[in-house]
Amino acid sequence: MLINPKNIAPPPYADGMWHWRRHFISVAQIRDRRDLDEDLFPLAHHLEHMVHNEGASQLLVGKCLYDLFYEPSTRTMSSFAIAMKRMGGMVESISNVQFSSVAKGESLEDTIRTLACYSDVIVLRQKEEGVAKKAAEASPVPVINAGDGKGEHPTQAVLDLFTIYRELKRIDGLTVTMVGDLKHGRTVHSLSRLLCLYDGIQLNLVSPPELRMPDKLVSELRGHGLEPRIHDRLEEVVPESDALYVTRVQLERIPQDQRPATIPYIVTPATMAMAKPRGEMILMHPLPRDSQDGNPEISVEVDADPRAAYFRQCEYGMYARMAILSRMLRAD
Ligand code: NCD
Repeated sequence: MLINPKNIAPPPYADGMWHWRRHFISVAQIRDRRDLDEDLFPLAHHLEHMVHNEGASQLLVGKCLYDLFYEPSTRTMSSFAIAMKRMGGMVESISNVQFSSVAKGESLEDTIRTLACYSDVIVLRQKEEGVAKKAAEASPVPVINAGDGKGEHPTQAVLDLFTIYRELKRIDGLTVTMVGDLKHGRTVHSLSRLLCLYDGIQLNLVSPPELRMPDKLVSELRGHGLEPRIHDRLEEVVPESDALYVTRVQLERIPQDQRPATIPYIVTPATMAMAKPRGEMILMHPLPRDSQDGNPEISVEVDADPRAAYFRQCEYGMYARMAILSRMLRAD
């Protein structure tokens, strides 16, 4: 096999795990908060200015990104694609896998090795936890985990933290409250792990008992110095929260007979009335919110509240992904 001359990532860490600039599979690969505070965040912020003032940058001219999505996506797939194009790169995608050779029984490894012949980075979303790592092992070009079942979603965690940094100007010392389906939601799994890199974080976990964050992950967080507080009631923790991070019940990962009858928590203007003022508090959501029965977990009346940061979060996501791509595909 040809060695990809564009593989410029730093060597693996001492324990053999890939550096996140080689393949980005888990937030555990970010070992040093300076990679965020002194590198990705300032770069993302700089790229944000560039997009606003000049429209684009030329950092990735000639590079090609392949979006390979085995699960639905709006934000992740399109923000990666447009991030790449805004830096002068090219994008190709398969999101309808029944029209790819997967429908003929091709293995994920063979699919990945094929797409790696055409592209410089593969962004993969898959239904099963752990599959992104398997794909990376088979891939001569960097693989980015864009969600592996209920496992991880590392670039979402980076963009979530970038959102907090942009909106509240700091991360150390904040109280972050995660609400909703903490059992199956991969975004909260990645974000809570990434918060371990910061000092003085108070993490509140609000969910019904059947949707609690897995014990194994809670112990892992404790091992890294976070002391999550588990709650049933949202009202108890809204007043102290600096970032309120709401998630959707991941119905697609829950058997029909175990699904909650109603959405367990709904953030309304009355909830926001209990929260800290503008400038001190933000309401986040990785989106999509589930509007199917007309009662999403954040009611639409909240959208006009200046503390509602979820659509700004989408935009920050594009800048964060521009920064991640440029660090994975360029030597500087
Ligand atoms: C999330 C995901 O796919 O995990 N969406 C996203 O990437 N912004 C959240 C979700 O689907 O609930």
